[in-house]
Amino acid sequence: MKRFNDLTDFSREEIADLIALAKRLDEHPEPRALEGKILSLLFLSPSLRTLASFQAAMGRLGGDSFVISPSMSIHGIETRPGIVMDGAAAEHIREAVPVIASYGDAIGIRAFAERRSLDEDLADREFENMAQLVDVPLINMESAIQHPCQNLADWKTMDDLGVPSAGGRFVLSWAYHPRALPLAVPSSTVQMAAMRGMDVVVLNPEGFDLPDSIIAKAKTAAESSGGSVTTTRDRKEAMEGAHVLYAKSWSSTAHYGDRIADEALREDLVDWCVDDPWFENAQDNCRFMHCLPVRRGVVVADRVLDGPRSVVLPEARNRMVAQMAVLHRLLSG
Ligand code: CP
Repeated sequence: MKRFNDLTDFSREEIADLIALAKRLDEHPEPRALEGKILSLLFLSPSLRTLASFQAAMGRLGGDSFVISPSMSIHGIETRPGIVMDGAAAEHIREAVPVIASYGDAIGIRAFAERRSLDEDLADREFENMAQLVDVPLINMESAIQHPCQNLADWKTMDDLGVPSAGGRFVLSWAYHPRALPLAVPSSTVQMAAMRGMDVVVLNPEGFDLPDSIIAKAKTAAESSGGSVTTTRDRKEAMEGAHVLYAKSWSSTAHYGDRIADEALREDLVDWCVDDPWFENAQDNCRFMHCLPVRRGVVVADRVLDGPRSVVLPEARNRMVAQMAVLHRLLSG
């Protein structure tokens, strides 16, 4: 494996092997597996879990890591191609990325969507441009449209909990948030659940439909896995028999990149805060999932987040465990 970028680059068998490896490394630690190896971590966007879990994963396998982010005392980094650098930034990403990559044996890069152009973000242009500058194994730590480490951890979390794959109903629901957030988690989560063979339902208000290409890609994955993908605006219909409610806020796709129009659209949607009544016609043990960070009382009520349905903490721990498997595959042997 040279690149961990998109779960759909892998077969279901390969994902199952990675999850089995993650479980093995968690239960039977290999503290010398990556001795002498260095992971370079470039964070162009903020993080808690991804930053900490990659450093912890590398440490548990006997390797080391270093972090570069704009919040450190580094030169300002310019990311725009073809720009005359007569402003504040003294360093261009075209030099920074290969330099950072050359200090390690693998590199992880996080760069959220710029949300200027939906087509550019769907093509993951900024991440792909950086990927071309790297000649060591590369991990996508969240780009405009992918978050494969989150997807692998979420898949493992459902396996750990015995959530059914075939016949399992997975509801991805838009939730209110005061700001327009990227499409990476919802888009890649739909692919993950469809690949797992689940009956995926995407629930969102008008103006927030996931792009057609994302739904079409998920339907293709579902055809191979025996699952299905549907979309609805009807919460009751979506939640009927649900095994998982995965909440996430995302940008308006009807007004992508238009902050004012997006805010106007979402201001009447504050009732899209997950609460107990959402689960009335779901499975009794329907799980609540969220990738975190999550705004309490905005995205989800405390009683759901702190209640027995919530699996957000095992999900977050599985980030580290899943990433140990990815690092092991990329760097050992
Ligand atoms: N879920 C996730 O990626 O968390 P961070 O943004 O804190 O890394």
